[in-house]
Amino acid sequence: MKPTQESVHIPAFRRALPRALGVLVAGLALAASAQSPSPSPGPSPKSVNQLKAFFQQNCIRCHGADGSAHNAEGKKLSGLDFTKAARDFSALNGPAADREIRAMVHAIQKGLFFGLSMPAWKDQLSEEDSTLMVREVLLKAEPGKPIQPQPETGGGKPR
Ligand code: HEC
Repeated sequence: MKPTQESVHIPAFRRALPRALGVLVAGLALAASAQSPSPSPGPSPKSVNQLKAFFQQNCIRCHGADGSAHNAEGKKLSGLDFTKAARDFSALNGPAADREIRAMVHAIQKGLFFGLSMPAWKDQLSEEDSTLMVREVLLKAEPGKPIQPQPETGGGKPR
């Protein structure tokens, strides 16, 4: 009968399985150790100025030079109008504001619509960087005022 035949085959298979797994695990360990020598440094924290430069390089093609999602010809790009968000945002405070900021940080880190609409930036911007980007760059965007790093003020006031 069939059941007895199977009861012979299954134990044989069970005996072979642990060995196959052992080989697999050893292989994975080898692969992992081959990759580990260089610990990935991860994105380093950036200053507000560096983030503005980063915005110029990476974000204006969709979010516009001033963050309004309008290009030089005034054409609306695919992004959200940060200058409007900045205005709306001033009405928010407390938990609502925190929730908005977290949502924006999350969008920067993970991208939107699986990276099709907006790519994820987590390889270039840490969560800390993204939070600073939202608070100090995006939510301070003003219409018609291009987002750009401040020139270094070499020494300040004359004496
Ligand atoms: C390929 C185009 C593209 C690029 C490049 C891009 N974005 Fe976006 N981004 C979008 C689109 C599209 C949306 C969705 C617009 C909407 O919600 O109306 C969006 C939305 C956002 C949002 C708002 C999410 C929310 O809460 O609604 C933030 C914040 C944001 N982008 C930040 C950035 C930053 C910072 C960069 C540069 C590091 C960047 N984006 C680069 C296309 C882009």
